[in-house]
Amino acid sequence: MDGEATNPFLDDVLAGLSARRKAIPSRWLYDARGSQLFDEITELDEYYPTRTELKILTGQARDMANAIGPDAVIVEYGAGSLMKVRILLDALEAPRAFVPVDISSEHLEASANELRAFYPDLDIYPVASDFMASNLGASLPEGGRRRAGFFPGSTMGNLLDREIDRFLKTTREDLGDEACFIIGLDQPKSPDILIPAYDDAGGVTADFNLNLLERINRELEGSFDVSAFKHEARWNSEDSRIEMHLRSLKDQTVTVAGREFSFAEGETIHTENSRKIALDRFAGMAENAGWTLTRKWTDEDGLFAVVLLEAA
Ligand code: AVI
Repeated sequence: MDGEATNPFLDDVLAGLSARRKAIPSRWLYDARGSQLFDEITELDEYYPTRTELKILTGQARDMANAIGPDAVIVEYGAGSLMKVRILLDALEAPRAFVPVDISSEHLEASANELRAFYPDLDIYPVASDFMASNLGASLPEGGRRRAGFFPGSTMGNLLDREIDRFLKTTREDLGDEACFIIGLDQPKSPDILIPAYDDAGGVTADFNLNLLERINRELEGSFDVSAFKHEARWNSEDSRIEMHLRSLKDQTVTVAGREFSFAEGETIHTENSRKIALDRFAGMAENAGWTLTRKWTDEDGLFAVVLLEAA
């Protein structure tokens, strides 16, 4: 190695804008501004997933806690604000410890400290890590009757098949042979509900998507004229996914870190997939990674599901 600093954001943007179909991985949507806009999205009338999942968790927490059992080490992946896990912690019998895993160490420490005030007797071990990047086995506390993973929010739908496979296999190894795993999954439904959820009337999702171009301008010496791009949400029924795109409103040339990229009018940058994975399909993916889907909890309209996997 020559010690040259690498910038994975720059690498992904240059590669993504050089591709025949321009695309940038959705993880780059979440800088501080993007995370703030995402929090606003979760409060929108049109965005049903967050409130529906919260309703399922609140209504079924006791059942979930019984399925997990007493003396469990709870590991939350991509933990964020730690609001949802409190519903579970309140229902659990004598949880042994809680391990929130999140890439943003500052945010994680603040949320963990807030949680400590509510659960003074619970051991909380925050782990600052990308939940996709590493094997966490060594960072997890020993002891307890079993480990239980917790991955709410339907972030699973933002991952590629191969990423889901890797994540489910790594977590299966980390959590061990006695483990279980509670996962939130948004479900397939009519585009009449899906499109407004990803293209709200107030334009918050549009700002969230367009912020990616502003971030490139801020961090990568980009020259995007953000007003010359438009947010678009599409339903791809074949792949059961909402796609977010940024559509160029004219023929134009943009530079990023000194490199030029041309856009034809109507050409898009594909910025996110939000897959709506049906439960039978997800059960197959889980099985392949050493898990068995044993329970599911849904709302009365079947909009969202929370599932329980047990180590096979
Ligand atoms: C984080 N993730 C589950 C959100 C979703 O619904 O796929 C991200 C999002 N993109 C636009 N709106 C919300």
